[in-house]
Amino acid sequence: MKRIYLHPLPVRIWHWVNAVSFVVLIVTGLQIRYREILGLMKFREAVDIHNFFGFVLIFNFFIWLVYYIVTGKIRIYIPPLNLKKFVMGSLKQARYYGYGLLMGEQNPHHSTPDNKFNPMQQMAYLAIMLLLIPLQLVSGLLLWDAKRFADFINLAGGIKIVDTVHVFLFLFFLSFIFVHIYLATLGHTATAHIKAMFTGYEELEEEHGH
Ligand code: HEM
Repeated sequence: MKRIYLHPLPVRIWHWVNAVSFVVLIVTGLQIRYREILGLMKFREAVDIHNFFGFVLIFNFFIWLVYYIVTGKIRIYIPPLNLKKFVMGSLKQARYYGYGLLMGEQNPHHSTPDNKFNPMQQMAYLAIMLLLIPLQLVSGLLLWDAKRFADFINLAGGIKIVDTVHVFLFLFFLSFIFVHIYLATLGHTATAHIKAMFTGYEELEEEHGH
């Protein structure tokens, strides 16, 4: 086994605080939306917990942003600017997930600290981190105190628009989590990638190790 140090401590802290907060926000969000059907907790409790973890997520997002910008490592999130390289790399990766994986082939992408993500991950993670999470945080903040932020809400097109954006993104993140967890189980063992997100070290079988 070869071990490479893939996930620095700030990224691991950010990731798990993010993951736990997302799960709590999804459960309390459902309780807020379906208060008549779901009886997991009191409506007021659900709102308070949702607001608390919403602010945790906002604070946590800045840990991610500052870490990646200050270290310059944000580069690992940027897909290849060469379109051909990007399209071919993505197709190769998609072919692996849909076919090669089932035929016992090796993953065409080998993660290193400077080239951690395959092109599909780069595209997905970049959109999630710089567009979708910020939109979810901003729409949540506006809905948190709709009176105080009335001017911004009007600017965005009214409360119905802000609420719809928030709910659509919720649907996206809910589906994302299922796909993300499935993909996270595709290491050399089902838990290898997940363990690495705790320890920082990804273990590679020697013949995979380059
Ligand atoms: C709920 C359970 C979750 C599990 C088990 C999980 C698991 C993992 C694992 C194993 C990795 C490392 C492999 C990789 O880089 O793809 C990872 C990375 C990542 N995950 Fe998750 N994740 C979870 C939730 C989430 C959520 C809710 C989000 C965002 C909405 C998220 C966003 C990310 C991002 C952006 C990375 C790349 C981090 C970096 O190295 O900079 N994850 N996740």
